[in-house]
Formats: sequence, C-alpha cells, structure tokens
Amino acid sequence: MEKQPNINLSREGKDKMITAEEAVVSNDHMRFQDSITEGTKGLISLMEKVYRERGFDFRGYKQSTLTRRLGRRLRARGVQTYIDYARVLDNDQTEYDRLFMDLTINVTSFFRDLVAFKALEEVVLPALITKGETNIRIWSAGCATGEEPYSIAILLVECLDWESGPREVSILATDIDTKALQRAREGLFTAKEVEGIRPAWLERYFIPEGGSFCLKPSIKGLVTFQKHNLVSDPPYCELDLVVCRNVLIYLNPMPQAQMIEGFYTALKKGGFLLLGKAEVPVGETRTLFNCIDKKAKLYQKVG
Ligand SMILES: C[S@@+](CC[C@H](N)C(=O)[O-])C[C@H]1O[C@@H](n2cnc3c(N)ncnc32)[C@H](O)[C@@H]1O
Repeated sequence: MEKQPNINLSREGKDKMITAEEAVVSNDHMRFQDSITEGTKGLISLMEKVYRERGFDFRGYKQSTLTRRLGRRLRARGVQTYIDYARVLDNDQTEYDRLFMDLTINVTSFFRDLVAFKALEEVVLPALITKGETNIRIWSAGCATGEEPYSIAILLVECLDWESGPREVSILATDIDTKALQRAREGLFTAKEVEGIRPAWLERYFIPEGGSFCLKPSIKGLVTFQKHNLVSDPPYCELDLVVCRNVLIYLNPMPQAQMIEGFYTALKKGGFLLLGKAEVPVGETRTLFNCIDKKAKLYQKVG
C-alpha cells in the first residue's frame, strides 16, 4: 500500500536557504502567518483534488512553497481564489501539467555547493575506494536535470584508480519530474550550465556541440535515470551513498522524516548521506545518523 504523508500544512522551517527561490520559501512563513487560516482549507482541498485527479501528491509540501507556487498559477490564469483555480483545472486539463511544472522546482547546477562536493571528493569517495568495494552504488535522489549525478560521476572517475582492481560503479538518479529526467538523459548542457565545471574536466568529459556541451559516454554510461517519488515509492537498497539535496526543504517534517528513514533503510552499514545546505535529519531520525561534517551536511549511517 502507498505510504501517505500527513496532511499537515503547518508553517515549518527555519532553514537557511540557498537560492532566491528557496529564501522566499522561508520568508513566506512570516508573511502568511495572519492570513493563512482562510486560505488553508482551500489549499488542502485543492491539493486533494490534484492528487485525486492526477495522482500528483503535493500534500506533504510546506504551505509556503505551495502558496507561492500556486500564486503564480492563479495570476497566470487571472483568477483570485483556489476555488476559481479548481474550475480552471476542470475546464483545461493541460493546466495540471503547468501546475506540476511550477510545483517541482528544478533549480540545480554542476557541483552546486563546493563544500559538499569537497566532502564527497575528500572524505566519501576515498573511504569507499579504500574500503575495497568492487561495486560502488550511489543514489542521487531528486536529481532534477542531471547536473548533480553527473558531477558525482565525474568526481568518481577522477578519484578511482581503475588499475587497482575491478570496479563496478552505478549511480541511480531519480526524480518525480519526467520532463527533467528526459533532459537529464540527453546529457546536453548550455555554455551557461557548464560554467561551474573546472576547465580541465570540461575538456576531458564533454564534447562541444554547436555552442552546447554534450557529456561523453564514459560519464553518461555511469548514470541511470528513473522516475521515483520520494514520498510514496519504496527506497532502493544496498547503497554506499545517498545524495539528496534541496528536496527536503520543500516538505513538512513528517514526510521529511519518512524520507530520511527510507535513506537509512537504503544504505549499507556505514553508508553515507549527503543533504542540502539547509537540511538536517529531523526529529527521531537524528539518532539514525552520525554527523561527519556539519558544514557539508554529510552524515554516516549508525549501526
Ligand atoms: C531544487 S531541485 C534539487 C536538485 C538537486 N538535488 C540539487 O540540489 O541541485 C528539487 C528536485 O526535487 C524533485 N522532487 C520534488 N519532490 C519530489 C519527490 N516527492 N520525489 C522525487 N523528487 C522530488 C523536483 O522535481 C526537483 O527536480
């Protein structure tokens, strides 16, 4: 049976945010404090409708994220209330796709947050390599358009000494957004999108293609993309590292805890978990992981 998140649209999250989009998420908590009661009912029933009609489950997302993102759709369709917007959805089914696109926030970049990738390069990957793992299994959960798993693949290839023994490397990259996954699979990025990559690596792992940059098969081949919903689908298993960055911040504490429990189950003994800059294991899940690097948000499975 599907795991259902609590319909708890409470105002949570005192996180430090990273992008402008994420910063607004936290400020919204204050702004909507007084006016929220009226809108909450409408918001809950709209999210119920979206789930019922299309199976998009955004019921565990923070109210601030939903309010802000829905506000854009309401303005775009020239309506004032959630009830009017529900009518728009009834009359124009393509609006569901636009809403889904607005609710899944695909902001990402190569080597996003250098502190985190430094911890991967200097702590996690050397630990996995010296442990003598012949099969290194990594999960990039909420991978958006692929920059995150491809960055990990580049680091791995740079760190691995392929001569020292047979290695099988697999990076599973998942997201709920099929359009983002489609782009990710293409492995084609604009000049702006590859700006965060060291020039030597850009030259080594990409082929210039009419103003864009195409990843070489040696990197692309290490990553498998799959649709997966972190809130309702079961986690994977026997993993050495889970990277889930900038997804938890959009969710309420209950689904956040469920996801972190899922990562605990997914990891091998001593496996690593890398979260986003503004994310930490919440509530009871704090006991499941030891913090290895507070700044990088790097954790290791207890037990
Ligand atoms: C802000 S992006 C983060 C991308 C990347 N991890 C990073 O930090 O650069 C958040 C991604 O999480 C995905 N996402 C949101 N809710 C999800 C869920 N329930 N299951 C899987 N992916 C989800 C969105 O579609 C989006 O691509």
